[in-house]
Parts: sequence; C-alpha cells; structure tokens
Amino acid sequence: MISRRGLLVTGGASAVILGAGAGGAAFYANGPGLSKAREPWSEAGKSFGDPRIDALAYAILAPNPHNRQPWMFDLVGEDRIDVYIDLDKRLPATDPSDRQLTIGFGCMLELLRMAAAEKGYRAALTPFPDGQPYPRLSGNRMAQVAFVKDESILRDPLFANVLARRSTKEPFDTAKPVDQASLDATLAGATGRLDVGGTVDAAQRQRITDLAWLGFMIEYENDPTRKESIDLMRIGNRAVVENPDGIDMGGVQMGLFKMTGIVSHDGLNTKGSQAYNIGIDLYREIINSAMGFAWIKAEENTRLTQLEAGRDWVRMNLAAQQAGLCIHPLSQILQEFPEMAQPYKSIHAELGATVDGVVHMLGRVGYTKFPAASPRWPIESKLIST
Ligand SMILES: Cc1cc2nc3c(=O)[nH]c(=O)nc-3n(C[C@H](O)[C@H](O)[C@H](O)COP(=O)(O)O)c2cc1C
Repeated sequence: MISRRGLLVTGGASAVILGAGAGGAAFYANGPGLSKAREPWSEAGKSFGDPRIDALAYAILAPNPHNRQPWMFDLVGEDRIDVYIDLDKRLPATDPSDRQLTIGFGCMLELLRMAAAEKGYRAALTPFPDGQPYPRLSGNRMAQVAFVKDESILRDPLFANVLARRSTKEPFDTAKPVDQASLDATLAGATGRLDVGGTVDAAQRQRITDLAWLGFMIEYENDPTRKESIDLMRIGNRAVVENPDGIDMGGVQMGLFKMTGIVSHDGLNTKGSQAYNIGIDLYREIINSAMGFAWIKAEENTRLTQLEAGRDWVRMNLAAQQAGLCIHPLSQILQEFPEMAQPYKSIHAELGATVDGVVHMLGRVGYTKFPAASPRWPIESKLIST
C-alpha cells in the first residue's frame, strides 16, 4: 500500500518513451511482453483476505475513459470503502466537466456491487456523501460503500461476463449485420432507470456514423484535445507495462511502427505527418464499420445520472459480451468543449434528447474477434493507507 499523498504524486506521472532510433529499437525488442499489465484480470477471483478488496479487484476492471483508472479506495474500519478520485487523472480538454470520468466511476461501482453480491455482501452505496460537486469533481468522496453481510442477496447473472468484457476498438466485419434481437439483448442489460436506445436501421446508422466521424475529426484537429489523448498514448509494450493506464498501443505491429519511427508522440501530434494521417485512416475505418449503435440518455445532466449512465453502460457491455456482440464507445461527439458545440447539438437532436437532457453514452456495435484484456494497475496500488 502507498499513502494517499504518494498515490497523488506517483499516479499522475507518466514515463512514456518518446521517439525510436536504432538504439530505441534494440531497447524495445528487449522489452517486456504485456502479460504484467494484464495481471489484474487474473488476480480477480483470488482471496485477498478482505471481502472489500476481493470485490474491488473486480471493480477496477471496469470500462473508463482513456483507461485512466482514476479511482482510489480508503478502507475505513471493518466494513466501509470511501471512494475518491485522483484529480491528476482528469481529462480537462476532452472532458471539461468530468462527466465522462464520473460515468467511469458508475461502471466501477456497478461491478463492485455485483462482485460483493457474489460473496454474499450487499454493497450499500451512498453517492457523493459530501454533496454533488459542480462544475468539476473535487477531492471529496465520490461515494461511500458499506459492506453488509446478506446471504439473501441476489447474484447478478451478468457477473459471469466480467472477465471476458471488452471495449472493442477494432474495425467490425461489414459483411456481418447486427440483428435486432442481439441489439435488444444488449439494451436489456440496462437497469431501466435511464432512457437507453439503439438502432440497426441503415439510414439512421449512416446519419450517426457521419456525425461520429465529424466529432472525431473535430477532436483530432483541435490541438488541446488531440494533444491530451496523444500524451496518454503508451506506445510499445514497455511503455504499457510501465504505465498500465491511458491509451494502450502495445503489440508487435505497434512495436515495429515505433522502431521504424513511423509512430511517435511527436509524429502523431504533427499535422500532416505520416503518423497523424495513419491515425485518421485507422479511425475512418473503425467508425465506418459501425453496424449499429446503442446509446444512453438522461433527462438531466447531474452527477447522479452520470453514475447511473455508467452503471447502465457496463451492464450493456456485459450483456453484449454475453450475446457475442462487440461494443465500442464513440464519445467525441458527446464532449462539451466549445469547438464541438454544433455537432453536439446535432447528435442530441438525432437521438431525441430533451431540452435539458443529455446523451451520456454512444457506442457502435458489430462483430469481430474480441481483443485481449486492456491494461490495469494492480488493486494494491489503488488502496489508500492511513
Ligand atoms: C465514459 C466512457 C467514455 C469512453 N469513450 C471512449 C471513446 O470515445 N473511444 C474509445 O475508444 N473508448 C472509449 N471508452 C472505452 C475506454 O477507452 C475503455 O473502457 C478503456 O480503454 C478500458 O478498456 P476496456 O473497456 O476494454 O477494459 C470510454 C469508456 C467510458 C466509460
């Protein structure tokens, strides 16, 4: 365990490896594989000697924006968890009000609830016990969770998919349509508290695809938002293992791109460069292969609906997994930075959001091979010592 202060200091640092000359190639070739970064997926399920940590080991596998894993847990007494955010891990350019990060906490808290139930505990949640923070999140508690032994607690069938769940960021097979029944099975994962919807209709799919592409290009061509994402790219296996958060660009092909200098942080961030254009080409293929969409709307944009949206998103992700369907959030067009204002309005109109309402999540669906598990920091590094 490390201290809360230690976590705040070390958690924000990112030791990325920039550039790649011939020396870099040798360094990279000798680098580690990715198994270390994926260990938390196999650690979940083992006994840590405290039911709260056992459940948290699953909770940290939740989907979350840019895989920042910004959560910190204070184990209070014998039966309570106080949940905080590491404020250094916020995404001010792409998520100026911390809305998406809060959704990520909703995903994590839902997995915590499910994992506790598996062991016969009710995880009684008090969201924002010190008040809902606006306009941004604060150092106050995001949630307080009491663990109460309750043998009558219902197990959640979706829990069976937690270790298999993925956000599939690959192009989908455009020869393989998604049928309405598979989309419905995905939407049925939601709790029913918010307004979830989806489409496989060709005309609406095309309209949403066009808007999603516009959103991607606006985010990519706008310096602060592009740079925020590029700074968080972990290029090559060693960078991923050293910082198992952010945008994972590990793997053999990326290693070759890095060795040959095709992909580097500087290159990606230079308009017109080969790497910059590769980024556009990759995403064009990804977005245009959407075979349908699923979304979550709320009547109002409060911290509580953000948590609820997270809860629904991870449940839909788990339900999709169970149906063998891939799902991938496309959040650019839902972002609140000023340059996105016009397409933000258009997607809200397209999806029928009310005047005060908000589209919290939008994701494409389709089929391809599910990817490997994404990197995670180990649970031990997320515990605050007193
Ligand atoms: C609120 C929210 C927004 C997200 N937006 C995007 C997005 O725009 N593009 C993307 O590729 N992934 C997005 N993701 C998925 C995360 O990048 C993903 O959960 C994370 O990298 C961990 O991967 P995993 O879900 O496969 O474990 C989002 C996830 C959440 C919870």
